[in-house]
Amino acid sequence: METKRLLIDDLARKEQALREAAELIRQGEVVAFPTETVYGLGANALDSSACAKIFEIKGRPADNPLIVHVASVPEAKKLVKDWPPEAEICARQFWPGPLTIVLPKADCIPDIISGGLDTVAIRMPSHPLALELIAKAECPIAAPSANISGKPSPTEGEHVWQDFCGKIPLLIDAGKCKVGLESTVLDLSGKTPLILRPGGVTWEQLAAVLGKVELDPAVEGGFLISDSLQPKAPGMKYRHYAPQGEIVLISGHKEQRIAQFISRLNNKKASERMALLCFEETAVALREAAGGVSQPAIAKADLVFLLGSRKNMAEAASRLFKGLRLCDQHKIGIILAEAMEEKGIGRAFMNRLKKAAGYKKDRL
Ligand code: TXA
Ligand code: MG
Repeated sequence: METKRLLIDDLARKEQALREAAELIRQGEVVAFPTETVYGLGANALDSSACAKIFEIKGRPADNPLIVHVASVPEAKKLVKDWPPEAEICARQFWPGPLTIVLPKADCIPDIISGGLDTVAIRMPSHPLALELIAKAECPIAAPSANISGKPSPTEGEHVWQDFCGKIPLLIDAGKCKVGLESTVLDLSGKTPLILRPGGVTWEQLAAVLGKVELDPAVEGGFLISDSLQPKAPGMKYRHYAPQGEIVLISGHKEQRIAQFISRLNNKKASERMALLCFEETAVALREAAGGVSQPAIAKADLVFLLGSRKNMAEAASRLFKGLRLCDQHKIGIILAEAMEEKGIGRAFMNRLKKAAGYKKDRL
């Protein structure tokens, strides 16, 4: 199959891209499009065979349900059995935006979407192209992140191209996604609102409007997933966001982190390809630290990917997946990744990093 890549760099192209994409979706095809979080691989959510194509193209396990994207609150209400006051509060406060709400599903939701569960996950994205595409297609759009299952999510059109060129008819390429981490998945089907996946809307923001909000203990991170502690969002149980190389998390206070980086770099074997995923402040310190005969420690790294300043957690969050993908392109075997504090967007950042590391205790 030939994949058409429509770059959105002027208004005329935008109209053409949206028209073609909406038409393909109506015909039961799968199209990649940008959202403010990551790119999505979309199909008509009410068409089972169109949705089956998503699973096939992504190599996604059938028990991992899809998020349904809508362009308005009334549209969301049609997809659920019940719209509780918490859903209304969340929609008013955070939609359109990076929040997905899980509620008991209406009968119109095909089983393939919900992966055998009796709930459905719904989100109204804020990217204007995503909203316009849903409106033009005149149907809700089911869309997982547009990456091959297991790989880091795509935050640029180029990432989608790398994974799906030749496998889908159309990619709407609008450059970088602003948030760069996936939406927060919030389960409102139980007694207490429960975060199944931390993301673009933070626990602190949700707690401010909902009061009590819990975090699924299985995704809080830092431990091996066992049979007794399975995450409620099926997608969270898989090793995910994973580059080919092994991730070593570098945490602790500033001096501890720098000492760990220096020690790992200075003990690097000649045959090893090592990358640093670190903050600018740390890179400055590593440029000043000795790494042997007349070279700084940082010079030993085969790839240095800067996450931005430690003061800007949102920027680091938006750059993480790009960094992980670059490591693969550079055939990196060991990735030294700098941790950040687990608060605000830092919780989602650390969740993805720990999952990318495979939740292996000895690597944390
Ligand atoms: O930001 C995002 O959410 C992106 C963009 C494209 O919107 N989409 C995305 O979809 O990240 P995906 O499929 O990569 O991740 C969806 C997550 C998975 O962990 C899945 O298991 C969970 O949401 N999920 C979907 N439906 C669910 C349900 N009914 N109950 C619990 N978890 C659900
Ligand atoms: Mg995904």
